[in-house]
Amino acid sequence: MATIEQEIKKRRTFAIISHPDAGKTTLTEKFLLYGGAIQLAGSVKGKKTAKHAVSDWMEIEKQRGISVTSSVLQFHYEGYCINILDTPGHQDFSEDTYRTLMAADSAVMVIDASKGVENQTRKLFKVCTMRHIPIFTFINKMDREARNPFDLLEEIEEELGIDTYPVNWPIGSGRDFKGVFDRNKHEILAFTANNGQREVEARELTLSSPDLEQVLGQELSNTLKDDVELLDGAGAVFEQSMVDAGKLTPVFFGSALTNFGVEPFLEDFLRMTTPPLPRTADIGLIDPVKNHFSAFVFKIQANMNKAHRDRIAFMRICSGKFEKGMEVLHVQEGKKMKLSQPQQMMAQEREIVDEAYAGDIIGVFDPGIFSIGDTVCSPDSKMQFEGIPTFAPEHFAVVEQIDTLKRKQFVKGTSQIAQEGAIQIFQEPESGGMERVIVGVVGVLQFEVLEYRLKNEYNVDIRRQDLPYQYIRWIENRDLDPKSLNLTSDTKRIQDLKGNHLLLFSNLWGIQWALDHNAGLSLAEFSRN
Ligand code: G4P
Repeated sequence: MATIEQEIKKRRTFAIISHPDAGKTTLTEKFLLYGGAIQLAGSVKGKKTAKHAVSDWMEIEKQRGISVTSSVLQFHYEGYCINILDTPGHQDFSEDTYRTLMAADSAVMVIDASKGVENQTRKLFKVCTMRHIPIFTFINKMDREARNPFDLLEEIEEELGIDTYPVNWPIGSGRDFKGVFDRNKHEILAFTANNGQREVEARELTLSSPDLEQVLGQELSNTLKDDVELLDGAGAVFEQSMVDAGKLTPVFFGSALTNFGVEPFLEDFLRMTTPPLPRTADIGLIDPVKNHFSAFVFKIQANMNKAHRDRIAFMRICSGKFEKGMEVLHVQEGKKMKLSQPQQMMAQEREIVDEAYAGDIIGVFDPGIFSIGDTVCSPDSKMQFEGIPTFAPEHFAVVEQIDTLKRKQFVKGTSQIAQEGAIQIFQEPESGGMERVIVGVVGVLQFEVLEYRLKNEYNVDIRRQDLPYQYIRWIENRDLDPKSLNLTSDTKRIQDLKGNHLLLFSNLWGIQWALDHNAGLSLAEFSRN
């Protein structure tokens, strides 16, 4: 029997971040394949569904049940217990995607080799750096025409502000893709289009092998020798501590679809990434092994099925062991309770869990008591984790009820949905009442969700008018009267429900204007209050 410490030390909990279509799903499938969690790649989730039009969404959600946007996949590989946190992209992109990163210990960034750093990767990366977690880069689709690898690295360094260390180096790309050179082993991993089979051929071929030219061709072998010399001479040095601090990203080149370089990547990644780390709470750092059970809620998923109004609260266990039926303290409510129907995702299956450890994610039945960021812990060691920041929404609309007699339901509905963290609500200071609110969302699909749920769960029809703003900033100066600010005519002053003052901007230029014309003004992209 493994001890609690052994169980925790073998856990690796990470998120895969990418721009849609870079290959996140494909890479995840291949990981699961190695772990034996699935038999055949291509079955992780109905990824095609993500490409459906917005209007199909309700139906899709019904078919997919609640598990789709909430998936955490757990599987075992070579003695590790791996938890992959899904970061929904495409239409499902929402604040949840950001919050999920709060539960991860590290991140894998998948980049399309022909496209480089894309928009959604940039946004997710920002959240990762906020937490200083290790980030590993997989440059995918090398079997297609790719950009020059040096340019790709330079782009990552410049755009994202992180140093890169290529662990392997590609030899050609597209039709000329011959494989990668492993810089640690000084060995060439040769690529033969193998229809996604698990095996890849590792050649005992070094840069000084006499048959190098014969295998790679003269041009590619010369390029490889030059590239390697350049990297060894002028490239970054590998330092694990820099990786741990999120300042240096180990980079791997490969092709998820053809299954090339995936297993070596997984092995190196698991070796270099971190087991569950201590987390900050009000009583200090909480050690995953030494402390008793503790967890925080990072996501609340409403049940889309009308017959079941319940919700599922997803918790990241930060320390100790969870056992089914154990009594825990819900710190924010100050109440002792038992967590009902604790579940865990094993590939596509949801299972009731009997025990889980620091690093694991469990979903528990929530009758409406949990909020994002809440702490649950063993009653004998009361503590409270740092809250989860509120991230900046990017789409805004004025929302009001059509039938003014439904005011109560409207207020209740919007407030509850906001409490789950699906939307954020704001008010115009002069408007006073709650009949008319400004709703902000990270992913535009959340507007549809709001409309659907208000109608179906609260029986309220709404009118929505989209606003042209794209950026929101929290005013950090506590005693400042927003009316005194000198702003462009298309900047709007609003307040959140906690009374914080914020500004809505149509463009980045407006933000700069505000900063330039109001000495001492401090604006934040996310709020910790
Ligand atoms: P995502 O989850 O990041 O959105 O990306 P996903 O894995 O769904 O991959 C997006 C598309 O890119 C898919 O093609 C997938 O097959 C392809 N792809 C992923 N990895 C590679 C790779 O290494 N090489 C090449 N050439 N293609 C790759 P699709 O046509 O949109 O879907 P499908 O018809 O293949 O399912």
